[in-house]
Amino acid sequence: MNTRTFGMLEWKPSALGFGAMRLPTRSEKRPGISPHQMEDVDGPRAIELIRRAIDLGINYVDTARPYHQGESERIVGSALRNGYRYKVKLATKLTFSPRWIRSADDFDPFLDDQLKRLQTDHIDFYLLHALQKTRWPALREMGVLDWAERAKADGRIGHLGFSFHDDYPLFEEIVDAYDWTFCQILYNYMDIDFQAGTRGLRYAASKGLAVSVMEPLRGGQLARTPPETVASIWEEADEVRTPVEWALRWLWHQSEVSIVLSGMSTLEQLEQNVKSASSAEAGCLSGDELARYDRVRAAYRALSPIPCSNCRYCQPCPHGVPIPEIFALYNEKVMYGEHGQGFTAFSDYGASRLLTKECIACGACEAACPQQIKIIERLRDARTYLLGESA
Ligand SMILES: NC(=O)c1ccc[n+]([C@@H]2O[C@H](COP(=O)([O-])OP(=O)(O)OC[C@H]3O[C@@H](n4cnc5c(N)ncnc54)[C@H](OP(=O)(O)O)[C@@H]3O)[C@@H](O)[C@H]2O)c1
Repeated sequence: MNTRTFGMLEWKPSALGFGAMRLPTRSEKRPGISPHQMEDVDGPRAIELIRRAIDLGINYVDTARPYHQGESERIVGSALRNGYRYKVKLATKLTFSPRWIRSADDFDPFLDDQLKRLQTDHIDFYLLHALQKTRWPALREMGVLDWAERAKADGRIGHLGFSFHDDYPLFEEIVDAYDWTFCQILYNYMDIDFQAGTRGLRYAASKGLAVSVMEPLRGGQLARTPPETVASIWEEADEVRTPVEWALRWLWHQSEVSIVLSGMSTLEQLEQNVKSASSAEAGCLSGDELARYDRVRAAYRALSPIPCSNCRYCQPCPHGVPIPEIFALYNEKVMYGEHGQGFTAFSDYGASRLLTKECIACGACEAACPQQIKIIERLRDARTYLLGESA
């Protein structure tokens, strides 16, 4: 297994890390339910998978309190018994949700409960989970950074970082707000200008932060059989690679990427990804290969049914319909196919929450749309598709 650098630390992470958000479950995946919401983790299989990952050289395991309704932390704790804990760095997160955190008084009990679940006395890499425009100022106001300093001083936390799900300007603001050791961003060859994107990766790295990548396969969407127009571009290449290998290699090519976290749910996936991680390093792609990713990205994007550029001139909708978000989700589902599957942090946000307000056809948005999209009609199409109703 190749190793990489991790920001300013001397420690070297394995190129591939284990994301414990999509552990094997006893029941089948259910449409409309993201795998990480499923609590019936198959304990013996999950423990075998995590230990095998460590035996194969993975030295970083990432989990969080909400994954599998709390079961992920418990299973990771069990998997790391029998000497495995000291072979890996462990990452988990402070999840700001009213279920757990209502005031600063809740920080300590939350962390102490995680330590218990994880059967350890310290978390090597602790993240403020999924920061975005409301969570970050609220947590800051509650004094989370001072609290984290204290938890670092008493040894319960090794290093502090954050994971991010919002637009780029906020990312830069957060990077600059504290002396973070690392951050975690959603990043893959399709999402180069979404959320932190390539710009964020480079910015964080330039400030000395290690960057761990989540959703390298778009939560599995880039692992599925690609549409014909995309498959033919991969097939023209001299090198024979699976879509997964192409996707992971693109990340390892970039020296600013410290570690790629994949949520592998079977031994086969683990072994394939470990094999890929052993043969890819910074600068591993040629100019021709990089151009191939540009063509694949364009081919995927050409499949999107609505030419919405998220300029947001249609907002605010007088009736509160989040038009750009609905169109983005609709485009995503059509582009990557297999309606209802392939959950990303973005699509987890979910059709049901986006579609609570129904369009009343007032037309204010159509007058404002520079792309002249027939918004009223296309919202109807999106609704029908996303709710899985027959057209
Ligand atoms: N901090 C945050 O806000 C946040 C958000 C998202 C994720 N994360 C972390 O980042 C980790 C990685 O994200 P992710 O789980 O979305 O990773 P991902 O690698 O994009 O998606 C994982 C899925 O890809 C498929 N897959 C992986 N390897 C494969 C292979 N060799 N062949 C075929 N399919 C393969 C599997 O899908 P199937 O199971 O469908 O086969 C697997 O469940 C998570 O596990 C979690 O620890 C953090």
